[in-house]
Amino acid sequence: MKRVALITGLSGQDGSYLTEFLLDRDYEVHGLVPYGRREFCDRRAELHYGDLTDGSHLTSLLTRIAPDEVYNLAAQSHVRVSFDLPVYTADVTGLGALRVLEAIRQHRESTGREPRFYQASSSEMFGNAPSPQDETTPFGPRSPYACAKVFAYWQTVNYREAYKLFAVNGILFNHESPRRGEHFVTRKITRAAARIKLGLQDRLVLGNLDARRDWGFAGDYVEAMWLMLQHEEPDDFVIATGETHSVRDFLEQVFGYLDLDYNNHVETDPRFCRPTEIDALCGDASKARRILNWEPRVSFSELARLMTEHDLEIARSDCDGVATESSQ
Ligand code: GDD
Repeated sequence: MKRVALITGLSGQDGSYLTEFLLDRDYEVHGLVPYGRREFCDRRAELHYGDLTDGSHLTSLLTRIAPDEVYNLAAQSHVRVSFDLPVYTADVTGLGALRVLEAIRQHRESTGREPRFYQASSSEMFGNAPSPQDETTPFGPRSPYACAKVFAYWQTVNYREAYKLFAVNGILFNHESPRRGEHFVTRKITRAAARIKLGLQDRLVLGNLDARRDWGFAGDYVEAMWLMLQHEEPDDFVIATGETHSVRDFLEQVFGYLDLDYNNHVETDPRFCRPTEIDALCGDASKARRILNWEPRVSFSELARLMTEHDLEIARSDCDGVATESSQ
């Protein structure tokens, strides 16, 4: 019998990589996706329109699908945006996780079936705690997004302890890819740099260039999610590369790769800064390495290169489009 997985947020970066990972392992994959969002949806997955604001829909979905594993990846996941939409973020990112947990608990009561639950927790929860951060580091959330994630984290722990659900938190540090949304800093940079290289634009406006993050490759990180649900005991794990780099370092990598000097193109504007920022994140994933046998494969420079190559391809096809239009 095929194992069945339900992924909330299947159409996002992580959802799309996880879908491919699970399909390769012969899972039947279902996804909860916002209406109309199909960009990264693998045709082999079965899509269900909806979101985390509707608990009764989640309960009926569980009854219909009877999943073995539930991955809760859906969220309002942009930190800067969460300052503009704090209540919406708390509802979707915080309460949303609780709705899934409660749906699983009720599903178990009525059917006796008990899917394993993965919660996408975030390194953002650590705030300005000193590096390196690991599973024992106290949280100090510095954004509405991080507050919502801390709420979801503790609900997951509480459902594990109070109701003995197999519920785990993956505390993932930043993870990027060519599928990263264009409003996150790495993709914003690779996309703009590729367009600058081909003469499609000249400048790039960013916020705080000194912030440091531990950036890994999303494709590596979805494997860790799966490994957590295969482990015999439910537990929480930090997933990170253990290296930290500034936004400026990322600019240097990407523009350098294209033989450009970012100083000639980048401007800063407080519009892209946060009221409260996290200065530096750097994770210690020793526990995941030891217990799950997980490790990251893609390095910082490889990540910058593969994202830049991808955006160069897109920029080239934009150029071709412009050339074709002007020759008609
Ligand atoms: N988005 C953005 N846009 N960030 C900028 C910009 C800009 O123009 N300029 C500088 N930055 C800085 C931000 O201030 C932050 O310090 C850093 O670049 C990374 O920003 P993001 O790429 O937006 O990611 P994030 O670290 O805030 O959050 C991401 O990682 C978390 C895990 O730590 C998101 O994916 C979260 O959903 C995730 O939980």
